[in-house]
Amino acid sequence: MPVQSLGYIRIAAEDVDAWNRFAVDFLGLEAVKGDTSEYSYFRIDDHPHRLVVIPSAQSSVEAIGFQVSGPEEMDLMVAAVEATGTKVTVLDQSACRDRRVTAAVTFDDPGGNPVELFWGVALAHRPVNTPKVSSFVTGDQGMGHVVLTVADGQAAYRFYTETLGFRPRNTMRLPAAPAADGTPQFETLWFLGCNPRHHTVGLLPMAGPGRLIHFMLEAATLDDVGRAWDRAEKMELPIMQTLGRHTNDHMVSFYVIGPGGFVVEVGYDGLRVTEEVPVYEITEGEFWGHKFINFPTL
Ligand SMILES: [Fe+2]
Repeated sequence: MPVQSLGYIRIAAEDVDAWNRFAVDFLGLEAVKGDTSEYSYFRIDDHPHRLVVIPSAQSSVEAIGFQVSGPEEMDLMVAAVEATGTKVTVLDQSACRDRRVTAAVTFDDPGGNPVELFWGVALAHRPVNTPKVSSFVTGDQGMGHVVLTVADGQAAYRFYTETLGFRPRNTMRLPAAPAADGTPQFETLWFLGCNPRHHTVGLLPMAGPGRLIHFMLEAATLDDVGRAWDRAEKMELPIMQTLGRHTNDHMVSFYVIGPGGFVVEVGYDGLRVTEEVPVYEITEGEFWGHKFINFPTL
């Protein structure tokens, strides 16, 4: 059985206070206590926390955590990852306690992005308290999605599909530097799913070490997105892309640049894939909107 969903994201941040304000006052997440007093933990549903912010001298992504269903699936997945020549490290008890999971492993994807697999999350049963957001769309669709850069798009595509079990949902061609004889070239941006969420991972070929382009959180209503837009304006947060609707997952969303240059997509109305359709190419990113007005400095 493949990866089931995006479980959590752990971010190393230079300015944890800025993240606390961004996560609570803008994104509307619930700040909760965790095992490590210096870390910030945020809930959006019955998982103990979905976002963890860790003080650091340099902003980076510490982990992109994917949930697998149980110990047997974990063993199979670890064997498959190791068979690609990738070094897998088992997380120790204190690291698992901090994540409130039974077991977890870590490795780098072919682009160098830090991935974790875990099973046995300890659920929080007290209702989540997110007064700024009616509710977040999670459940079988997981926390949301991530878009990652990978130097070798083909290698990353094979790893996520053949090894981790993601399914290709759609592609988009992006112009690349022309060949020596002037022939136009393109890169393929892949969108991959592992559950009814249209895509859980996007793979953007780009030279250099892998990095997180953005992560997306989905709220339940248009009003949630509209109110988030109002809060962004009031807090004078830099908007990367204005409101728009994507052509692949039909998400109505906007993109904001958070602390450390991390971009978050705030969306609603994402497509729920109930029946696999053949892989298709999109020729535009959006039906309307999503105008770029700022670019992150990473
Ligand atoms: Fe997105």
